[in-house]
Amino acid sequence: MTESPVIETRSASPAETPVVFPQDRTCPYAPPPGYDPVRQEGRPLTRVEIYDGTEVWLVTGLAEARALLADQRLSSARERPDFPVFQKRLEGVERRRVELLGLDDPEHNAQRRKLIPGFTMKRTAALRPAIQETVDRLLDTMEARPEAKADLVEAFALPVPSMVICALLGVPYEDHEFFEEKSRMLLRGHGREEIEGARDALDAYIGDLVERKQAGEEGLPVGLLDDMIEAFPNREELVNLAEILLIAGHETTANMIALGTYTLLEHPEQLARFRADPEGVPAACEELLRFLSIADGMTRLATEDIEVGEVTVRAGDAVVLATSLINRDPAVYGTPDELDVARGERHLAFGFGIHQCLGQNLARAEMEIALSTLFRRLPGLRLGAPADEIPCKPGDTIQGLPELPVAW
Ligand code: HEM
Repeated sequence: MTESPVIETRSASPAETPVVFPQDRTCPYAPPPGYDPVRQEGRPLTRVEIYDGTEVWLVTGLAEARALLADQRLSSARERPDFPVFQKRLEGVERRRVELLGLDDPEHNAQRRKLIPGFTMKRTAALRPAIQETVDRLLDTMEARPEAKADLVEAFALPVPSMVICALLGVPYEDHEFFEEKSRMLLRGHGREEIEGARDALDAYIGDLVERKQAGEEGLPVGLLDDMIEAFPNREELVNLAEILLIAGHETTANMIALGTYTLLEHPEQLARFRADPEGVPAACEELLRFLSIADGMTRLATEDIEVGEVTVRAGDAVVLATSLINRDPAVYGTPDELDVARGERHLAFGFGIHQCLGQNLARAEMEIALSTLFRRLPGLRLGAPADEIPCKPGDTIQGLPELPVAW
């Protein structure tokens, strides 16, 4: 009788020099070339090293990723002392409970259930006219610039989702510079002082806003946060949840709009198809989500042994799911490295399982309206600098472009 081919965790990567995860992208829409050995090896799970030499599982197969993300034996609880941290910049930063995103069921589900009504398809569809109006207003301002050039991130890609999430939550948009800056610090800052300082400042801001709302201050915008004050009586939980929604609501989609624009400009044939077929815009946005995979590194911790295909992930093993590789799994996609706006295939850019992106309907609406209107209204839109001189964001954060010079 032959044994089932279980490969021990410590010997699953035959590569001589282990691949390090994460690495910086060199092309903003492609996985870092440093991941090539993992891709060539073609295993759905590989042992890789994180910055401090610790080995973790890197998941790159779509079927395996879906199975693992649906498996309750993988935990998202970031307050566990052995939960994987793969960003060097977080060294020394205090571990603390992260609501929703960093909780397991049933606690996670209790929070998510209360938030779902704010993010349904119906609720998001009702926001479309307001999103269109925001997009049009920002483009009016851009078009009025006599120099006919701008940083698209500052002028368009960031304000669209930032204004929309403010309107949805009931947060005053006039405070946007403050919370955008603090969110940036939280996501990309280095070390205890910067990161914890940003977190404390955001906590204080939201805590204060909640108090002003509770005191009945006039003139404040009304939104989901007002409902959340009722639904989450614990102040710390409420503030942390609102912070997650505010950050997730603008940082992610801003990257998709800026990077989506760059990518379409760099693929003129696909851009021509995108412009020629308004009906095809939703499918094109799905393909951009797949191709760009901006949330490139979901982390989990195995709480029990889990068999996945030919390997056993042991209890205590850290697991990282690389969406940039999962969404280019050659077992699923023909020509995975090609952008095809009519591809129409499923992807894991919004995650899968209990933590699947709560804001995905909103993100889709924003992307579809922002990108289609931008390319319709500015037919001469082009990069304002050579493509290879436009830097990418570091690999250990949400992927995108810090700035995008454009002209029209
Ligand atoms: C295109 C833009 C976006 C992308 C690519 C994206 C991606 C993701 C991914 C991959 C996850 C799963 C993380 C994990 O399993 O560890 C997630 C979760 C989440 N996203 Fe998004 N997201 C986007 C936009 C948004 C927006 C606009 C919001 C609005 C508030 C949002 C709110 C959330 C929340 C609250 C969660 C946690 C859900 C839970 O734990 O149950 N996201 N997102």
